[in-house]
Amino acid sequence: MWDGPYGDWGSRKYLISSLDQSLQRMNLDYVDIFYHHRPDPETPLEETMSALAQIVRQGKALYVGISNYNAEQTQQAIKILKEQHTPFIIHQAAYSMLDRTIENGLTDILEENGIGCIAYVPLAQGLLTSKYLNGIPKDSRAAKEFIPFLNERDISSDKLQKIKSLNEIALERGQTLAQMALVWVLQQKSVISALIGASRVSQIEENVKALNHSSFTHKELDAINDILL
Ligand SMILES: NC(=O)c1ccc[n+]([C@@H]2O[C@H](COP(=O)([O-])OP(=O)(O)OC[C@H]3O[C@@H](n4cnc5c(N)ncnc54)[C@H](OP(=O)(O)O)[C@@H]3O)[C@@H](O)[C@H]2O)c1
Repeated sequence: MWDGPYGDWGSRKYLISSLDQSLQRMNLDYVDIFYHHRPDPETPLEETMSALAQIVRQGKALYVGISNYNAEQTQQAIKILKEQHTPFIIHQAAYSMLDRTIENGLTDILEENGIGCIAYVPLAQGLLTSKYLNGIPKDSRAAKEFIPFLNERDISSDKLQKIKSLNEIALERGQTLAQMALVWVLQQKSVISALIGASRVSQIEENVKALNHSSFTHKELDAINDILL
């Protein structure tokens, strides 16, 4: 990404030159997966998708992925990439207990086409952990003014009440809320992985232990849906 008309978004020139520069920086000949970050309203989808196809044909990526495309855009991308015989295997989408937007059609399309969803921001930037249950800790993301994506206003009393209720279910399961939120997202339709962030190693250690208890009873799932929906 760089300043100027071709330094971002989805033009052929941007995608190919940004990958070339990344390969040079990483001292690699190819990457396993090359993602397109988000749909470009200024560039025809055909151009963006055919740039991804060209990258695979050139041997600079083995597979392609997309991110932040909605259901309709994803369906169109699938069609174009199929026509170009390009292996499109993964969609990186925002998905968590607090953001279920992709359930409105996208997850069905991914499942029908054998494309995996990697859920990003699965902990809602920390809201789905025990971090904010009793206020906003000074060393948290929400307390840092320079991070524009999460702040005090995002932690409404309604949301906090939901988080507290979810935390009670997690404790009954013998898990932390972070662990339950990760297991929940991992067992959703089409989800094959979750992309977490962490500000310290102890968070990663806690989160990985989510896999020690990775199934839900129907009763638990119903109780979670009652809180969320
Ligand atoms: N494709 C896209 O457009 C897109 C957009 C955004 C992000 N992403 C990707 O998604 C990744 C994850 O994003 P994210 O970091 O916002 O997501 P996240 O996993 O929902 O939130 C991570 C934050 O939650 C807190 N946390 C994590 N584990 C915790 C624990 N066990 N206990 C207490 N707090 C815990 C930490 O906050 P504190 O810092 O407060 O400790 C951590 O920084 C990013 O690295 C990025 O690669 C992709």
